[in-house]
Amino acid sequence: MEERLQKIIAAAGITSRRKAEELIVQGRVSVNGRVVRELGSKADPDRDKIRVDGKPLPGSHGHLVILLNKPTGYVSTVHDPQGRPTVIKLLEGVRQRVYPVGRLDYNSSGLLLLTNDGDLTNSLTSRTSRIPRTYRVKLEGQPAPKDLARLEHGIVLDGRPTEPCRIRMVSEREKPWYEITLVEGRYHQVRRMFERAGQRVVKLKRVRFAFLTDRGLAPGQFRYLSAPEIERLRHWKTEAGPER
Ligand code: URA
Repeated sequence: MEERLQKIIAAAGITSRRKAEELIVQGRVSVNGRVVRELGSKADPDRDKIRVDGKPLPGSHGHLVILLNKPTGYVSTVHDPQGRPTVIKLLEGVRQRVYPVGRLDYNSSGLLLLTNDGDLTNSLTSRTSRIPRTYRVKLEGQPAPKDLARLEHGIVLDGRPTEPCRIRMVSEREKPWYEITLVEGRYHQVRRMFERAGQRVVKLKRVRFAFLTDRGLAPGQFRYLSAPEIERLRHWKTEAGPER
């Protein structure tokens, strides 16, 4: 669908609509290789190749990446056979069809990426990506230090050892809060790991994914990643586990 260029540029998270108008007038925006300076110009972000200062606009020519702060009570799928609300419901104004990158449980909250870029999804979710994900968890009670050490070292889940991870206490209470950083994302991994340490997870929130945090994003809010952020994710490489 065609829309005004300044609206498309602002929606891609590059800048405000007013600044986008300035970029257009300054001749810094091109559509399919032709510089466009007229403010009323329209384009179709799904079809046209839009560039700002020569760089492809995220969301132009198909691809965009969204960072959502998922509240609890939403499923991380596009459709739920049980009729529960999906994370897609939270993406008001997003016309492109996007899919979650991995999953957060219905009862979990925090950072979830969504994109229509299948290659990016594959590279972020592949076993070799080793992208650190940090979770804050509230536990039913206090786990024994030796059990936490075992989790950090690695335990066997589904017949395969977990990667070494880092765990630290962030708030000492009757129901303490811990932070755990993993470089993998297996099914219900955090909940299952703490169960092995004898403690049930009562709250779980993902607070960091690679270099992305929830700063400025209230639960239920989302933002478009900028072009440099997408590039950084696309070329994410780390051989080391999470720092200790
Ligand atoms: N691990 C879990 O157990 N649940 C989540 O939602 C994410 C990580």
